[in-house]
Amino acid sequence: MSKATRRSLVVISLGFMMAAVGMAQKTTPTSMSEVSLECLECHATETAGIYDQWGSSKHYRGNIGCYECHKAEAGDPDAFEHSGYQISIIVSPKDCARCHEKEVAEFDESHHAKAGLILGSLDNFLADIVEGDTNFYGGSALTVSGCKQCHGGIVEVNDDGSLAATGWPNTGMGRVNPDGSHGACTACHQRHAFSAEQARRPENCGKCHLGPDHPQMEIFEESKHGIAYKAHEDDLNLGGSKWVLGEDYTAAPTCATCHMSAVRTSSGKLVPVTHDVGLRISWNNRPPASIRPEVSDKKLGLEKMAKVGWEERRANMVEVCTVCHTGSYVENFYEQYDGVIELYNSKFAKPGMAFMKLLKENGLITETQFDESVEWTWWEIWHHEGRVARHGASMMAPDYTHWHGLYEVAKHWYSKFIPELREIADRSLHSDDPQIVAGGKKLTAAIDELLARPEHAWYTGNLSPEEQAKRKAAQEEFKSRYGKD
Ligand code: HEC
Ligand code: HEC
Ligand code: HEC
Ligand code: HEC
Ligand code: HEC
Ligand code: HEC
Ligand code: HEC
Ligand code: HEC
Repeated sequence: MSKATRRSLVVISLGFMMAAVGMAQKTTPTSMSEVSLECLECHATETAGIYDQWGSSKHYRGNIGCYECHKAEAGDPDAFEHSGYQISIIVSPKDCARCHEKEVAEFDESHHAKAGLILGSLDNFLADIVEGDTNFYGGSALTVSGCKQCHGGIVEVNDDGSLAATGWPNTGMGRVNPDGSHGACTACHQRHAFSAEQARRPENCGKCHLGPDHPQMEIFEESKHGIAYKAHEDDLNLGGSKWVLGEDYTAAPTCATCHMSAVRTSSGKLVPVTHDVGLRISWNNRPPASIRPEVSDKKLGLEKMAKVGWEERRANMVEVCTVCHTGSYVENFYEQYDGVIELYNSKFAKPGMAFMKLLKENGLITETQFDESVEWTWWEIWHHEGRVARHGASMMAPDYTHWHGLYEVAKHWYSKFIPELREIADRSLHSDDPQIVAGGKKLTAAIDELLARPEHAWYTGNLSPEEQAKRKAAQEEFKSRYGKD
């Protein structure tokens, strides 16, 4: 944009004084404030990118200028004087709440708001200690540029009001702000357009929801829903000021459609947009074994959500699905999904957790995390492969459910985890310490007991005769089609 057009934008903004705004905002002003016009005097050229992005935003059209967002009180921890006014760089959810109370309240009740509270997790031990050192302002440079760019860092203020490199730049989801609030609305609404359209697109969630431990983006791309999105992107009315599934589009769902956006249900009810991404999911598939979301919400101190049972949340999601599918189709899907969760939980996750507990309680491994091979093996089984299988099943991506998921779980379970447990058990039986010997005996018994279970019996050659006969018949039938070998 040229300097002249920038100037005219300032003038046009005055022309918009009486412009009606599409959305009811108790604070929508009828003209751009004097102070914000002053900001533009310099910023139209000093930060042309920011100025242009803001110029294309609904905020500009609603006369919400630089100062309406960046203004601060003299006593605020991150306030500094700039061109005669107290301002701050951080515009926290608390600041947005002056005009968007509902969205902020919903966000505050969600896991997203708590995403910064990862200190003490095993992943954090990895980033701080195992992969990192303490040479970046006393902490790990990796944690700052890795984990915290998704989860949210702690924004620290230098004495002169500038922001420390330990926590800024950062648009991590659960960022801890100088005013004590949690979250960064810029995690999804990129500045300075702050557009709903951009947030409705799957790539938006894909900054964080991807990779070896939670590949939701890749899963979506593989699924029929992702295929439909790519094919019909232009028919989705993504830029609409209103975006109700069943009214404004039906060609494909995006992440936002299923997890956040408004729906006109088949019975005519309007389900509103929510900024609480926990309201429509009935499992939490992040822990070693899946648990119900209300259980994890209680642990995180999300009081309101702790009272919303998984059945209600599932019913909320079903209202989305049934705009495009029948009730029985969706019901069957959930049975298939629950089946994978039950399989993974009972065959691998719960026994794995019990083994690791037994190792620790009997002193068969050290207190230190990740100094023994078996700890890495178990970590990857549940944190990577086991999650991927569950996420794949939850969002209809068979390759992730199987080849990247339970195939990897089983391969590492039988070819690494069980052999490593055996080795620890055998070593312990030969120890001089009677307590370790006792632990070794317990471990041996536990392995034998597990392997005697019907779902593991194949490994010791003890598949039941009926199952063996069934497999053999199927094999022969298959061979007759595909040649002799
Ligand atoms: C007299 C010119 C001038 C005026 C008026 C002005 N600014 Fe700035 N502002 C600047 C310059 C120059 C910078 C630094 C740009 C750079 O580093 O590239 C800046 C930086 C900033 C920053 C970032 C600070 C940082 O350290 O990252 C914010 C936020 C900001 N201005 C907001 C405002 C707001 C809000 C107003 C109106 C209340 C305003 N400015 C008025 C010139 C001005
Ligand atoms: C709707 C609220 C809002 C409005 C309006 C707004 N900003 Fe911002 N601005 C933000 C947010 C949010 C951030 C990022 C800080 C954060 O994540 O808390 C930011 C960051 C900045 C930064 C520092 C980041 C960078 O990329 O250098 C500057 C400079 C800035 N804004 C200037 C402006 C100017 C100039 C205007 C007016 C043309 C303006 N802002 C209008 C919310 C706003
Ligand atoms: C002083 C009031 C005010 C503040 C502060 C404010 N907004 Fe807004 N915001 C508005 C108004 C008014 C609109 C509606 C404009 C319209 O519909 O034309 C709006 C619209 C929006 C939209 C919808 C845009 C679209 O494409 O439909 C988003 C997203 C948004 N704001 C996010 C934010 C975020 C994030 C912050 C804090 C960083 C923030 N706002 C701070 C007043 C404000
Ligand atoms: C690419 C962005 C990204 C990076 C980098 C990242 N995470 Fe995550 N993390 C996520 C997402 C997204 C989830 C939620 C996944 C889901 O819902 O399936 C998550 C989940 C978690 C959880 C589980 C939280 C819960 O309540 O169940 C912990 C703990 C965690 N991450 C810690 C870390 C640590 C520590 C690091 C650095 C070693 C890290 N993460 C790096 C995006 C990231
Ligand atoms: C996880 C991503 C995400 C985060 C974080 C997020 N938003 Fe949104 N927001 C969206 C999506 C997606 C939409 C569009 C919903 C629709 O129209 O279907 C939206 C829409 C909005 C709107 C337009 C009104 C509406 O209901 O459509 C406002 C205002 C808004 N967000 C404010 C905020 C504020 C303030 C924050 C910070 C507390 C925030 N958002 C954080 C994803 C997010
Ligand atoms: C900046 C990173 C980031 C972005 C962008 C992001 N998320 Fe998340 N999301 C996370 C993290 C981190 C968690 C895990 C938080 C925790 O439990 O500690 C999470 C958790 C979730 C959960 C689980 C909620 C629960 O109650 O268990 C859902 C669902 C979710 N995100 C959906 C979305 C959708 C949909 C979008 C896009 C509209 C999105 N996220 C964008 C980082 C992100
Ligand atoms: C067709 C609807 C649909 C779409 C599209 C969709 N999801 Fe999901 N998502 C689901 C369902 C169903 C579940 C499982 C809900 C349950 O457990 O009951 C789920 C679960 C999740 C979870 C919870 C994972 C956990 O750890 O428990 C996250 C995070 C998530 N989705 C993110 C995304 C992201 C990011 C996208 C886009 C890239 C996306 N979803 C697209 C329907 C959808
Ligand atoms: C906006 C419409 C829309 C929504 C909402 C939607 N779907 Fe779909 N879904 C589709 C389309 C289109 C297909 C592809 C149909 C085909 O295979 O021809 C599909 C396919 C499927 C499939 C078959 C997958 C495969 O690989 O054959 C399942 C299962 C499914 N959806 C379940 C769900 C569930 C569960 C929800 C809610 C969480 C949901 N859908 C939400 C449009 C939607």
